[in-house]
Amino acid sequence: MIEIRALREADDRSQFRSGDSDLDRFFHRFAGQSPFRHHLGVTYVAAEDRRILGFATVAPGHAEIEGLPATARAKLPHYPLPVLRLARLAVDASAAGAGLGKALLRFVLELAARMADDYGCVGVIVDAKRGAIPFYEKYGFVPVAAVEGEADARPQPTPMFLAMRAIRAALGTSSDER
Ligand SMILES: CC(C)(COP(=O)(O)OP(=O)(O)OC[C@H]1O[C@@H](n2cnc3c(N)ncnc32)[C@H](O)[C@@H]1OP(=O)(O)O)[C@@H](O)C(=O)NCCC(=O)NCCS
Repeated sequence: MIEIRALREADDRSQFRSGDSDLDRFFHRFAGQSPFRHHLGVTYVAAEDRRILGFATVAPGHAEIEGLPATARAKLPHYPLPVLRLARLAVDASAAGAGLGKALLRFVLELAARMADDYGCVGVIVDAKRGAIPFYEKYGFVPVAAVEGEADARPQPTPMFLAMRAIRAALGTSSDER
């Protein structure tokens, strides 16, 4: 059975291959460091027994209202808005196309909804690689202006945003339901 859970220090990350060398290198080298030592972000994995088939790394961030789509801006104030950043998402090539990317994304949307309930979050921002833009569009993400300066990745990813209202609709929850 596949479970989605926080990455553990003892997990073997070395066998993971998504086919994207940047994402694979990040996962092999760095994914363990930030959660366990620096608390910069948290990596969640989709694991079957001890084999890791996918991962998603998230961190809190902020967006400026000017960068958001007009539909998401209504009535929001002009100071930095709390968002959850989906920093990285990848699925092992052996498990591609089986719904794991969707399951990890849903898990991240649940984290964002919980963040909104607990300490505020207007939506999720992802820096999408070109090939993944249609994947995020499928779930309602829309391209937005760069909101936190340029990412250092090359080629430049496309920042995309999904508003909390759309997240609640996708999850079928409202904030009163806790
Ligand atoms: C993008 C990625 C995470 C998708 O994971 P996956 O497990 O293969 O995707 P799923 O099986 O969950 O697909 C869910 C749906 O999205 C669609 N989809 C998957 N990848 C897609 C893509 N690149 N473009 C458009 N649609 C895509 C699937 O066809 C499926 O549609 P359906 O529900 O109508 O059948 C995976 O291909 C990957 O790791 N790619 C390399 C790394 C990468 O680009 N990561 C994103 C960085 S921002």
